[in-house]
Amino acid sequence: MSDTQPQDPKGAIARFLAASPDSVGKTIFIAVAVCLVASMIVSAAAVSLRPVQEANKLKDKQVNVLQVAGVYEPGIDVTEAFAAFEPHVLDLATGEFVDDQFDPATFDDLAAASDPDLSVALDSDPAGIGRKAKYRVIYLLRDETGGLNKVILPLHGYGLWSTLYGFIALESNGNDIFGLQFYQHGETPGLGAEVDNPRWKALWNGKKLRDDAGDLQITVAKAQPAAGPDFYVDALAGATLTSVGVDNLVKFWMGDAGYGPFLAKLQAGEF
Ligand SMILES: Cc1cc2nc3c(=O)[nH]c(=O)nc-3n(C[C@H](O)[C@H](O)[C@H](O)COP(=O)(O)O)c2cc1C
Repeated sequence: MSDTQPQDPKGAIARFLAASPDSVGKTIFIAVAVCLVASMIVSAAAVSLRPVQEANKLKDKQVNVLQVAGVYEPGIDVTEAFAAFEPHVLDLATGEFVDDQFDPATFDDLAAASDPDLSVALDSDPAGIGRKAKYRVIYLLRDETGGLNKVILPLHGYGLWSTLYGFIALESNGNDIFGLQFYQHGETPGLGAEVDNPRWKALWNGKKLRDDAGDLQITVAKAQPAAGPDFYVDALAGATLTSVGVDNLVKFWMGDAGYGPFLAKLQAGEF
């Protein structure tokens, strides 16, 4: 028989089946087949679970907004409770809402931070975030009469090992802090991750951002600043570097490069 004649595929399969289970060919075939099937199952699971993951992420963010505003209780209908919050897309530079340009329900301000058209590179970058979105989604919480009760502002910045993402809740005067909490970070459990400790989070309640002269004084440090206890949150024990990160990011977002223009309008009673 000539070498150029096509081989009989049935013969090849029969030879493969007849081969010893320990043969190199069979071993490689089984290994590749198992890898293929496993990767198909993992891919299918990843694709089919993505909507569930997105829904959980959204719910987690909503729970955090409710928690930082002090209205979360276990077992409540999160979607219903979150509907009480009024989302707005804020132009950080002007302190004005731009809901006519972007839909607050769908605008992704963290993704916007890596879009050259929607963000700016930071020359001075104390929060260690590289770029800042020009717009952020913020939430207003009103009382029964329609008066402003609280404002929830997202903030983020680098700690020791990771970027911490969270929210700060301010009273309607735009100066008194109601609460601060992070919903995502990679700091060390027992050290930097103590930012999640309810006792440490409680220290923020009642603190003030600015003094009577309008200077930003809020400080996270080991020792109380000259401005006094109203502006002071004690640093985490054994986690000075994460605490410095939180100090930097809070100062950045509450300052002129962050929500400063909006807070000035808030203090003037514009909302
Ligand atoms: C494995 C390991 C993990 C650490 N994780 C953190 C952390 O998440 N945040 C932090 O500020 N310091 C962390 N530290 C400690 C810092 O290196 C540094 O010692 C500490 O921030 C100093 O804080 P202190 O002055 O309060 O002791 C860690 C140290 C080690 C060895």
